[in-house]
Amino acid sequence: MLKIRVESLKPGMKLGKDIFTYDGKLLLTKGTVISEEHLKNFASRNIKDIYIMETSPQLKATKSFEEAFDDSLDIVKSFMLEAKLGGNPDYAEIENSVDTLVQQVFSVTDIFRHMRLLKDKDDYLFTHSINVSLLSILIGRWLKCSEEEIRLLGMAGMLHDIGKVYISNEILNKPGKLTPEEFEEVKKHTILGYNLITQNEDLDENIAKAVLMHHERLDGSGYPMGTKGKINFYAAVVAVADVYDALTSNRAYAGKLSPYTAADILWQESFGKLDPRITKVFYDRITNFYVGNEVVLSNNKRGVVIYVDRCNPTRPIVMVGENEFINLAEDLSVSIIEVID
Ligand SMILES: [Fe+2]
Ligand SMILES: [Fe+2]
Repeated sequence: MLKIRVESLKPGMKLGKDIFTYDGKLLLTKGTVISEEHLKNFASRNIKDIYIMETSPQLKATKSFEEAFDDSLDIVKSFMLEAKLGGNPDYAEIENSVDTLVQQVFSVTDIFRHMRLLKDKDDYLFTHSINVSLLSILIGRWLKCSEEEIRLLGMAGMLHDIGKVYISNEILNKPGKLTPEEFEEVKKHTILGYNLITQNEDLDENIAKAVLMHHERLDGSGYPMGTKGKINFYAAVVAVADVYDALTSNRAYAGKLSPYTAADILWQESFGKLDPRITKVFYDRITNFYVGNEVVLSNNKRGVVIYVDRCNPTRPIVMVGENEFINLAEDLSVSIIEVID
């Protein structure tokens, strides 16, 4: 619990203690989510300080993004190692780490740039777990999920591939295409992860469902069950985050794609495979983050993204020289192949 000045309060923070009026009447109870209306009320009642819950994501992040990312890397690594060795992995540490990531998502404006710079920092499985957690939190925020739902999304993202610790590195890091037998082996990570997660009875069942079902697809083409139709919400969010991070990362078997190409692939997958509502929000929002970024075009020119049209977000206007612009929505022969900064 933190005591903060009323001027620093933001809507969405949660009260850490009951508030009473000067004559002893209960005004607001602990856990109340602060609204704009409350803020005005506090000012008119001359209330100066308020206790708020530390989990309030609106709290300014106290760590830099890189520090938070590094800490999460350490935690996820020891968690995975412990799980692999058959020990008792520390879920509380993972929860704390997710809280820190939630703070980052709510306070860092250029989060995609930060994520891009740290992408190749460690083994793919570790950085991927953190990236999918961050992206799932971000999607939860865009979908206006509650604070608790956002935390669960972060947990689900962080743990979604935990079952991969039981798959041999030879298969996970194989540079070429997997044989059908090897692919069957990889598919097991969903069930193995689920079996591990469900050993902890305190964890919300949606986390286990996301671990089990993040490769299921609406048309039944996914695995492990080949479920057709509605997929658990947490699994559906993690699926979008997972596909996007995989496409934009360097993996053993494929080079990374530009965020624009990845967004286009997600869009295509939203017809029958990924949840269309979640994918649409992601697709609409994500490309806006790239206004101002330096990009490389398929015609080898470099430029800066200066305008993103909401109707066609992956085909922005790029300035390639003083007074020279390419509108990718009109010139379909050119596309963005890389984001540099
Ligand atoms: Fe997976
Ligand atoms: Fe994954």
